[in-house]
Amino acid sequence: MLDSNIQDKPEIHSQIEQKSKDIGFTMPSDLYIGTLLKTLMASKPKGRFLELGTGIGLSLSWMVDGMDLESELISVDNDSKLIEIVSEYFKADKRVELICEDGSKWIKNYSGDKFDLIFADAWPGKYSEIDEVLNFIKVGGFYVIDDMTAQPNWPEGHEDNVERLVAYLEERDDVTLTKLNWSTGLIIAVKNS
Ligand SMILES: C[S@@+](CC[C@H](N)C(=O)[O-])C[C@H]1O[C@@H](n2cnc3c(N)ncnc32)[C@H](O)[C@@H]1O
Repeated sequence: MLDSNIQDKPEIHSQIEQKSKDIGFTMPSDLYIGTLLKTLMASKPKGRFLELGTGIGLSLSWMVDGMDLESELISVDNDSKLIEIVSEYFKADKRVELICEDGSKWIKNYSGDKFDLIFADAWPGKYSEIDEVLNFIKVGGFYVIDDMTAQPNWPEGHEDNVERLVAYLEERDDVTLTKLNWSTGLIIAVKNS
C-alpha cells in the first residue's frame, strides 16, 4: 500500500497550497492529516466541528470536504490576514464560520453546543485550555492533534510541552487514544464519558 497515493484531494486544495507558497505561510497541515480528518468528519453526519488554528485553510479544506450538507464547522485563528484570505475560499459555504480571535479567549467564552470532532492545531486547545476543549467534545466524538513528533520549526524546548501533553492525555480516563507516528505525529482520541 502506498499511503502517499492520496487521490481525493479537495478541489480547492491546490489553489490554497499555491496561496500558502505565495505568502510564505510556513505551517500548512500536510496531506496525511488532511485525508484522515476528511475520513473522520465523514463518520459524523449532521456533525458539529471545531478547528483551532485555521492557518491558510488547508486542513479546513479537507474537513469541509468530509462534511455533509447538514454539518457545521467553526474555525478560529488570531491572524486577521489569514482569516481574510481563508474567507475568500469559504465565504459561499454557509456551513463554515470563520472567527478571528485569540483561541484561549474564544474557548473561555464559548457556551454553545458540544462538538463531534475538534482539530486543535494552535497552542490553545492543545498546550493550554485542554480541559475546557476536551469538555466541548460529545461522548463518541474525536479530539485530533498533529505535530507531535519533532519538527524542524519547533522552538527550543518544545519537546517538554509535547511530552507533558501526551502524558496528560494518557492519564485521563475519559478519553481512549491512539498515538500514530505518521504524518507529523498524530494523536486521535475519542471522548468516552
Ligand atoms: C499550525 S498553524 C495551522 C495550520 C492550518 N491547520 C492549515 O492547514 O493551514 C497554527 C495556526 O494557529 C494560529 N494561532 C497561533 N496562536 C493562536 C492563538 N493564540 N489563537 C488562535 N490562533 C492562533 C496561527 O495564526 C496559525 O495560523
